[in-house]
Amino acid sequence: MGKNKNNQPIWNTRIKKETKNLFKKVGGSIEIDKRLFREDIEASIVHVEMLFRQKIINFKIKNKIVWGLNRIKNEIIKKKFIFDEKLEDIHMNIENRLFELIGEEAGYIHTARSRNDQVVTDFKMWLRKANKEIVKNIDFTIKNILKKAEKNVETIMPGFTHLKNAQPVSFAHYLMAYLEMFNRDKKRFNNNLESLNENPLGAAALTGTSFKIDRFYTSKKLGFHRPTKNSIDTVSDRDFVIDFLYSCSACAVHISRIAEEFIIWNSDAFKLINLNDKIVTGSSIMPQKKNPDPLEYLRGKTGFMFGNLFSMLTTLKGLPLSYFKDLQDDKEIVFKSFDQLKNSLIILNDVLKNFSPDKKRMIELAESGYITATDLADYMVRELNYPFRKAYLQTAKIINFAEKNKKKLSELTLKEINKIEKGLTADVLKVFELKKSVNSKVSYGGTSFDNIKKMILSYKRNKYD
Ligand code: ARG
Repeated sequence: MGKNKNNQPIWNTRIKKETKNLFKKVGGSIEIDKRLFREDIEASIVHVEMLFRQKIINFKIKNKIVWGLNRIKNEIIKKKFIFDEKLEDIHMNIENRLFELIGEEAGYIHTARSRNDQVVTDFKMWLRKANKEIVKNIDFTIKNILKKAEKNVETIMPGFTHLKNAQPVSFAHYLMAYLEMFNRDKKRFNNNLESLNENPLGAAALTGTSFKIDRFYTSKKLGFHRPTKNSIDTVSDRDFVIDFLYSCSACAVHISRIAEEFIIWNSDAFKLINLNDKIVTGSSIMPQKKNPDPLEYLRGKTGFMFGNLFSMLTTLKGLPLSYFKDLQDDKEIVFKSFDQLKNSLIILNDVLKNFSPDKKRMIELAESGYITATDLADYMVRELNYPFRKAYLQTAKIINFAEKNKKKLSELTLKEINKIEKGLTADVLKVFELKKSVNSKVSYGGTSFDNIKKMILSYKRNKYD
């Protein structure tokens, strides 16, 4: 593509002075948006094919352009392409090279389109793949959780509320709670594909075009379901970007929560899980240390992900229609969130493969804190026909007694219990068994072993996808 008299690139033809150097450097985006080269070339090829079908350009020119574009694609793949910062972005870099390869006729490529519709088209196509790639990685996470859960259905640990011992649960049940979160994330990313279904190409700068283009043809060829409906909205809409960034943030929250949970469980105070040497790091001064750095990294990077979502929301807030330079930042933000989330999921998967529960310690901890108190209250409701509130009060009295006498509930004798609640027989003592407590939670979604086994099986058969 030639320069004009003012030594300016072609899209600056009427601008008489050269752009200030610093802005020329920071205003461009080629270092970032070169990641869109495949999508840009694919969309350009479909665009010129459509122009030819609609008799807007002739066969010879169409073929020349397609040949040139394919060649450029190979040059970029083989790293022979020289990206020029002065040419601002991927679209101008490719167009410029097309001029070098086929001459003047390259200029037909930009008939009936603008960089404004071109860039959203490329970006939506890229995001379609990105959403699928993230779903693939979440699937690995789900599989890893399932594997661990399967081995730990009968591993009993204390379930917590307020981080205080609450009721005994199966460790698998705890893990499967995270599976639910990641399954919702997966759905969220899959749902994003819906907002990526409309084809922006043909909206041109903002008004559409006077050429008789066929937007339904380009939609079909580029894998969109239909063309967008309003050309002004098309070039200014970045809702699909927010959807993606929000989905990344929500997924990062889940990663952060499991990371934090594992940090606590791995602490010397809890000691509920052991981390394999592959996922810990040492200290430069304290030789004994094995720190859960990867988990802290996962928790830490969540803030970065929120930041990206907020950057984009802030860019869009108060932005009039239609295209503005502000929007150029969308790609940097999205690429960063995508790369980060993908790395985080890979690291989380390493963690899931390289930790083990300390089953003995789990039971030990579950035996403290009067964790079967609710089971005792429920027992009184059933056996003595008490209203739950009365059973609750009687149970509280029994706990007070045990606490005063420094005993666990399971260490109380029937005689001691009868002093507070006469109606109970020796059968009550079974209520304090942890395994019995866990297996009594048979309500749908509860922690009984059978429930969990069924749930695992359904997920393994992809029943809940
Ligand atoms: N590089 C620009 C971006 O990413 C492409 C669109 C440029 N359009 C314009 N009118 N300057 O947003």
